[in-house]
Amino acid sequence: MTLELGILISGRGSNLQAILDAVERGALDARVRVVISNRADAPGLTRAAQARIPTATIAHRDYSSREAFDAALVEALRGAGAELIVLAGFMRVLTPVMIGAYHDRIINIHPSLLPAFPGAHAHRDALAYGVKVSGCTVHFVDEGTDTGPIIRQRAVPVLDDDDEERLAARVLAVEHALLVEALAAMAEGRVSVEPGDGDRRARVVERRG
Ligand code: GRF
Repeated sequence: MTLELGILISGRGSNLQAILDAVERGALDARVRVVISNRADAPGLTRAAQARIPTATIAHRDYSSREAFDAALVEALRGAGAELIVLAGFMRVLTPVMIGAYHDRIINIHPSLLPAFPGAHAHRDALAYGVKVSGCTVHFVDEGTDTGPIIRQRAVPVLDDDDEERLAARVLAVEHALLVEALAAMAEGRVSVEPGDGDRRARVVERRG
């Protein structure tokens, strides 16, 4: 099944590039319908334009509430025919307006082994804590910050002389692979969400390929 992707970014867009490259080389059965940034100056918009992908800027500052911003996102994503949404360095927390419109069809890449170190400063927090292993997580998005069902995770060692920049670079290379692998598994229809109950959270079940 070809994934019809809408990709949301706020900046550099190297994870977006990893997706574009994987589609280009035939490693991922997906079409990127639109790339939307909440910042007009996001370098990722240039990457999308170079790949001839439609782009849009929807600036959160132009909306009076987070819900109104999300409603504009939903309208643009639906208008473009996006069916699965990838948050690829998108630095806004979504409201029920967006989560409800794309229930279990929004994924995020986060640069830590969740539930450790959610939020915008994962590497700083991991270094401050002194963990010896960090990594990255691809997960479905719910209304919390980096809390939804985990699709895939991969560990990356933290070295004694790491600073934020060195750790981020080592994790980023793994993010690119992990995100594409998770999307490929989804394109193959192997990923589903099993509802939770009183004792267990909702979780992802991935059938082997
Ligand atoms: C990545 O580290 C991602 O995990 C985090 O923000 C960063 C975005 O990088 N959510 P890029 O814009 O994909 O290069």
